Amino acid sequence: MKKTNISNFKKTLSKFVTGVTIVCVKKNKKIYGKTVNSFNSLSLDPPLILFSLGNYSTSIKIFLETKYLTVNILSKKQKNISDNFAKKIPEINEYNFIKGKFNTVLIPNCIGHLECKAIDKIKKGDHTIFICKVLNLDYNNKIKPLSYFNSKFI
Ligand SMILES: Cc1cc2nc3c(=O)[nH]c(=O)nc-3n(C[C@H](O)[C@H](O)[C@H](O)COP(=O)(O)O)c2cc1C
Repeated sequence: MKKTNISNFKKTLSKFVTGVTIVCVKKNKKIYGKTVNSFNSLSLDPPLILFSLGNYSTSIKIFLETKYLTVNILSKKQKNISDNFAKKIPEINEYNFIKGKFNTVLIPNCIGHLECKAIDKIKKGDHTIFICKVLNLDYNNKIKPLSYFNSKFI
């Protein structure tokens, strides 16, 4: 076994294949989005999901202050959207966001959407875990997901 340091830890975690999501919030009419692969299911009944955001993020305050959010699960054809929302200042205007029910926005043509209410935010280590109740959802059986492995899209 290797020693646990940040480099080995990151490399080992990168061997776990994930999907890629964009978590979106709207605050004071402005839209914020972040590329997130720490998304996971938490509970079926009630329907809960979770994801974590770095406390060092320039936009963590916005996400901490917002109650409603969407998780947009990207399709294989949306790699450019992942790249965009991994930037410190992403391009927002080029997306024809769909309006959600709770002052939320959805990215069109995703493989799945979850409209959620954040019910708990737990600070652990250098990240905060967001625990969210799923209020509305949809999915598309006809398209393929975007996957992330070894720090690359596959
Ligand atoms: C595939 C992928 C997955 C990511 N997943 C997460 C995540 O789960 N949590 C997180 O805080 N940042 C994640 N990031 C990093 C953020 O998307 C973003 O790059 C970073 O937060 C930018 O810095 P800023 O928040 O200070 O603007 C991920 C980036 C990529 C490319």
